[in-house]
Amino acid sequence: MKVRDVEWSDFPDLLDIYYHLYDERAQGDPIGITLFSERPSHADEIDWFARAYARFERGVDVWSVAESDARVVGNCTIQRLAPVAGSEQAHIGILGILVHHSHRGQGVGTALLTHALAAARRRFEVVRLSVFSINTGARRLYERFGFVTTGHSPRAVKRDGAYLDEEEMTLVFESGPTGAANA
Ligand SMILES: CC(C)(COP(=O)(O)OP(=O)(O)OC[C@H]1O[C@@H](n2cnc3c(N)ncnc32)[C@H](O)[C@@H]1OP(=O)(O)O)[C@@H](O)C(=O)NCCC(=O)NCCS
Repeated sequence: MKVRDVEWSDFPDLLDIYYHLYDERAQGDPIGITLFSERPSHADEIDWFARAYARFERGVDVWSVAESDARVVGNCTIQRLAPVAGSEQAHIGILGILVHHSHRGQGVGTALLTHALAAARRRFEVVRLSVFSINTGARRLYERFGFVTTGHSPRAVKRDGAYLDEEEMTLVFESGPTGAANA
């Protein structure tokens, strides 16, 4: 398994990983990601990928993927909160991470976070994320990287009539960005 920056040709694998979450939800698996009520169309996903990839290529966002046997099996993005020049929140990145069902619990998430946070350290001063309160495994993983819980949102998600609370977790790079200037 290796971790690298995303490439344009990764789209089909990334789509597979994302679409699989809708199957997991249908099977009642406790996935840790907020989904739409219906699986988005290919057209919606192509639009999303094109926009996200453009932000990555312009150096606005960090985007790391894990590859195993020539397939992408995990994905970590850190998106600049306010990519507008002069914003007072341009120093903050928002982290999202997802590993394919078949590869969880094998160190992929740890490798992705190591790669993505190393890149984030050169661009951001603060990284923030939201995690379901019940996702204790993921919360432990983030704590190992220095994230601390900075907020609690009751009833943040309503899924099939049941509510899920969310925790906000934050990592502050005390020394500030070490490389490229902030946007
Ligand atoms: C959370 C996630 C990204 C972690 O990646 P991973 O490759 O499974 O993580 P690693 O193997 O490097 O580390 C395993 C740690 O993650 C935790 N973990 C969280 N969800 C897990 C899952 N569904 N399966 C296995 N491990 C999971 C484990 O408890 C373990 O922590 P521990 O060693 O303290 O018990 C991944 O499990 C995943 O994509 N889960 C579903 C989506 C999700 O919850 N995303 C996070 C949204 S905030």
